[in-house]
Amino acid sequence: MPIKNDLLLRTLAGEKTERTPVWLMRQAGRILPDYRKVRNSLSGFKELVETPALAAEVTIQPVDILEVDAAIIFSDILVIPEAMGLPYEMVEKRGPHFPSTVRSGADLDRLHVAEADGVQYTLDAIRETKKALDGRVPLIGFAGAPWTIFAYMVEGGGSKTFSKPRGMLYENPQLAHRLLQMITDSTINYLKGQVEAGADLVQVFDSWAGVLGPRTYEEFSVPYLRQICDALTDVPVTLFAKDAFFARKSLAELDCRTIGLDWCMDPVASREIVGPDKVLQGNLDPAVLYGTEEIIREETRKMLDAFGPVKHIANLGHGVYPDIDPEKVKIFIDEVKSYSSASR
Ligand code: CP3
Repeated sequence: MPIKNDLLLRTLAGEKTERTPVWLMRQAGRILPDYRKVRNSLSGFKELVETPALAAEVTIQPVDILEVDAAIIFSDILVIPEAMGLPYEMVEKRGPHFPSTVRSGADLDRLHVAEADGVQYTLDAIRETKKALDGRVPLIGFAGAPWTIFAYMVEGGGSKTFSKPRGMLYENPQLAHRLLQMITDSTINYLKGQVEAGADLVQVFDSWAGVLGPRTYEEFSVPYLRQICDALTDVPVTLFAKDAFFARKSLAELDCRTIGLDWCMDPVASREIVGPDKVLQGNLDPAVLYGTEEIIREETRKMLDAFGPVKHIANLGHGVYPDIDPEKVKIFIDEVKSYSSASR
């Protein structure tokens, strides 16, 4: 099916487009009253993730309401540990929790490499979303990076330091590598399944990249990201490694199309480090959206100027905060569209 609004795909192909494409990480979620309405009618977050018709509905909401240039499938990165045999709970107002964790070889022996159909509900949601979108905008699939998934599986939930997973890298590096490899194999199966179901591109979120240092990142994250990039030959891959300013050069050497930047990474300096080939995505500080309309427009223009007119996908530097007024998000999107088209 041809995509009607293919600005994002043409930007990924390196073309100079009539304006910069824009979408937001976490666009399908709590900022939208329409999302909260669906969500509140259910037993919880997981029911929404696991019900394809509803997941498709909330995936499309931001396309209708915010007029973004891409949809991102509604799911979560934590579906992979669950498909490997380590279930998660989403605790209201607190975040994810794993009743059991991986701390030993015996724990790891209870897990298995997930096949794509271990997350059948998300593959079905992708199929339903593609049908309902009817080619309006491209659909982004996603997964967590192996390091970030490992961090949750070993820690058992969120953490400021992720000391347990980091500790395992020194206590038992062989075990760490075995688990990272199992996660990587599962993630490749899952992302290939997403592409087969209709995802037009995929993004890998290394949200906890920044708790590693340059050396540990090279050993425990980069090689697994490389395997994912090498395995996904049919669609463009975006790597978003939050806080991993030190890894931009190594990520640029991988076979990915796009590198996502957080708001602490300077666009001009990042382009120098990454070189001319890759597309860059980002990176407005999500906190700018607490500002006035004037501030939002001004900061958005500064960001667009810093990235320049080609090989840029406008986004925030991380997910939109849940208490942001959707009207402020619309101002950001409107400014990207009007300013970038006027300056072509
Ligand atoms: O719109 C989109 O971006 C698509 C949907 C999406 C969700 N999670 C839905 C979600 C995506 C891409 C994710 C990815 C995800 N999940 C990441 C990587 C991105 C990042 O923010 O760094 C991470 C680290 C997770 C794990 C996770 N899921 C946490 C820590 C939490 C709890 C904290 C929070 O934000 O509430 C979740 C829950 C979650 N995932 C929600 C949504 C909309 C909120 C739950 C709810 O509606 O009750």
